[in-house]
Parts: sequence; structure tokens; C-alpha cells
Amino acid sequence: QLAIEAAPPADAAPDTTTAAAPAAPAVAACFPPSLIDPDVQAALPDGYVIRPLEAADFDKGYLQLLAELTEVGSIERDAFNERFAYFQKHNDTYCPLVIEDTNVGKVVGAGTVVIEHKFLHELGKVGHIEDIVVDANQRGKKLGLRVIAALVFISKSLGSYKTILNCSEGNIGFYEKCGFTKKEVEMVMYH
Ligand code: ACO
Repeated sequence: QLAIEAAPPADAAPDTTTAAAPAAPAVAACFPPSLIDPDVQAALPDGYVIRPLEAADFDKGYLQLLAELTEVGSIERDAFNERFAYFQKHNDTYCPLVIEDTNVGKVVGAGTVVIEHKFLHELGKVGHIEDIVVDANQRGKKLGLRVIAALVFISKSLGSYKTILNCSEGNIGFYEKCGFTKKEVEMVMYH
């Protein structure tokens, strides 16, 4: 697990207690914010922030945004938090990020990189990009490009020797603009 540095709340009083085992501070980010490429943040429009997924994104339209990509189903807050905690616990593997338009407090872009740990290539790692979506009203502003650049940065930072993804024929042009090249074919078996 990657250590996440948790900043104390701005109004927190200094801890003068001598308790042996103070409660761990609540950590908002799903993975360390230091994995976010500052150059990607700098390229975003004013008021747009790219950052790790937070549990509070449940109330900022995260699942509704994912539903623009495919079926999400009905996920209650508790179930969301449980899955979020799983990702957070395994944050050397799961790195879901979002772009928030802080002008309106809504998540407008999202994507995840999953780091596969292999025996091959001398214990190599491979980044798998998954679940890319930009809100329909926000497309064409290069937010998708920024999400991909940020995920590739994470993948490289965590030691992957390559980053791969599956997509539809209609999205090949987008991923080529992001620097990917077409290779081989995808196969699937649904259960
Ligand atoms: N085909 C060809 N070129 C495209 C496409 C496309 N489908 N979509 C965008 N582009 C081009 C843009 O014109 C732009 O080109 P430019 O740099 O010459 O101006 C460049 O790619 C970057 O486009 P963005 O503005 O960053 O793209 P956007 O923010 O609109 O996001 C996305 C693209 C994510 C595909 C969006 O259309 C979307 O959310 N679609 C629905 C969900 C979806 O299909 N997600 C991908 C699933 S695959 C996966 O998850 C691995």
C-alpha cells in the first residue's frame, strides 16, 4: 500500500494529548495526491482540478458520470464507501482519478489506471487504463486528453513498463491523439 499523507484540517488544534494510539486521521484521497502530474493540472481551465477520487465524490455526480459510459446500476452510499475503502487499501493497484469543476462542485471527467503486478519482465508492471469518461456537456475541451495524460503519468511513476487499454473503433482516433498506437485485438467472455 502507498502511504497517503493526510493534511490536518486547517482549524485543527495542535495535538497535545499523550494517548498511545491516536485514531488515524481520516484520509480523503484514494491514492497519494503526489501521483498527480502538476503539468496536467496546470493545463486545465480555471476552476478545474484533477485529483484522486474521494469518498465525497459520491455527492458530486461520480456515479452519474460513469453512467454516461455504461450501466452502473443502483449503488447506495455504504456500498460505494466499501468499494472506495477497498481501492484505498490497494492503492498500489487501483488509482481512480477525477476532474472536478469546482465552480459548480461537480465531477466532469474520470478515469482509472489499474497496475498489474507480473512475474514476466523481471517482476514487471503493466498499467491498464479503464473507465474513461467526460461529461457530455464538457467534451471537446481536452479534458479526456488530460485524464489520459494523468493516468499514464501515474502508471509510469508506479513503475509500469507499458500502459494499455481496450476501446471501441470509434475511440481509436482519440487514443491516437493521446499517444497510443493500435496493437493486436481484444477478446471477451461475458458471465
Ligand atoms: N475520435 C477521434 N478523435 C477524437 C474522438 C474520437 N472519438 N474524441 C475526441 N477526439 C479528439 C479531439 O478532437 C481532440 O483532438 P485535437 O487535439 O486535434 O483537438 C483530441 O481527441 C482530444 O479530445 P478531448 O477534448 O480531450 O476529448 P473529450 O474530453 O471530449 O473526451 C472521450 C473524449 C473521453 C472519448 C469522451 O468523448 C467520452 O467520454 N465519451 C463517452 C465515453 C467513452 O467512450 N469513453 C472511452 C471508453 S474506452 C476506455 O474507457 C478505456
